[in-house]
Amino acid sequence: MADYTIKVRRFQPESGEGPYWEEFDVDLEPSLSVLDALLQAKDREDGSLAVRCSCRAAICGSCGMKINGQSGLGCKTQIGEAQELAEKQASATGGDAKDATVVIEPMGNMPVIKDLVTDMESTHWTKIRRVTPWLLPHGDPPEREYVVEPESMIDITQSMACIQCGACVSSCLSMEADPGFIGPAALAKAYRFVGDPRDAETVERLHDLAEDPHGIYDCTHCFSCIDACPKGVAPMDQIMRLRRKAGEAGIEDPNSGHAHERAFVKIIEKKGTLDEGLLLQESFAPGIKSKLKPSKRAIKELLGSIPTVLRAIRTGKARSPVKLIPGAHPKLPDGAQDEVKAIYEHAEAHREEFNLYIKGEEGDEEAAIEERLEPPRTHTLADEEAQNG
Ligand code: FES
Repeated sequence: MADYTIKVRRFQPESGEGPYWEEFDVDLEPSLSVLDALLQAKDREDGSLAVRCSCRAAICGSCGMKINGQSGLGCKTQIGEAQELAEKQASATGGDAKDATVVIEPMGNMPVIKDLVTDMESTHWTKIRRVTPWLLPHGDPPEREYVVEPESMIDITQSMACIQCGACVSSCLSMEADPGFIGPAALAKAYRFVGDPRDAETVERLHDLAEDPHGIYDCTHCFSCIDACPKGVAPMDQIMRLRRKAGEAGIEDPNSGHAHERAFVKIIEKKGTLDEGLLLQESFAPGIKSKLKPSKRAIKELLGSIPTVLRAIRTGKARSPVKLIPGAHPKLPDGAQDEVKAIYEHAEAHREEFNLYIKGEEGDEEAAIEERLEPPRTHTLADEEAQNG
């Protein structure tokens, strides 16, 4: 047994008071969970402490919370490890590790109902319903079940592992900036159906998710959802897969997200670091043709970005205004740019899948086929250029 102090952010709406912090002393084995610590505090000290839980085994997804600022499951986080992290965080910020306590808060990006219980309906479940989370097959249903080859389902097994705990939603930085963002959980759920061979409305789904200004191009690649997910779903990877498929389908999006991605990839290949001025121009008016004769939309977008450019200069993000002149950005020195090129060549020549269940590179195909686990064809920038002529 060891003694711990847990510091819980509490909110009791019936009191009419705002949120406040309360500390509880608990004693339990380090291998027991943060949820066990909360249940002990509830049992021994204050029965009004509200926490949602059921399975206590990382299966039901009920006990999402923030522990030491990180979103996750209370029942999957050991109290001993949480204490160690609290001590590390205290030392890193100049505090005394001896005084460190495990800090527990309700999940972020959703309203708090009471103490650690959040309103999952208004954000999480509403967004899940937004992506039509059921199969849309065409034609008459088969007499019995739909029969699919097991290997055709491998691609979606990762998104199927989601237990809907909301930890990714809680940690999503894009949703903090834009509460309308469909979000990591719902988009991972969307991939589950986009990647399902039985679904007949894949293209319609991709149009919907790409053309929504709060859709797949609203994700800013912060990786927080990947860190938070207790089941390895890696929601950001599923969003990137949706983007890849939308790009393959040639879908234009109102955020110019796909053009922005292509521009980003090309600039890094050419210069090694980001030429912000060129990125702006290439995102909205890619290629010589659209620069000579920019579309009304490109003009509107470029003019609309002027306040952002001015803000970058004012805040010092763009240290030298010269750097904002498209093309003025220098290449990496010496042979460093060649190394970047080599990475690109490797990436273009190999297939690499980020699914937990699909690993390996191009040379592994034969073995994969033998095992009836042929990896899916990964779309590359070169493919897209060939396709677009
Ligand atoms: Fe079920 Fe934690 S109580 S996931």
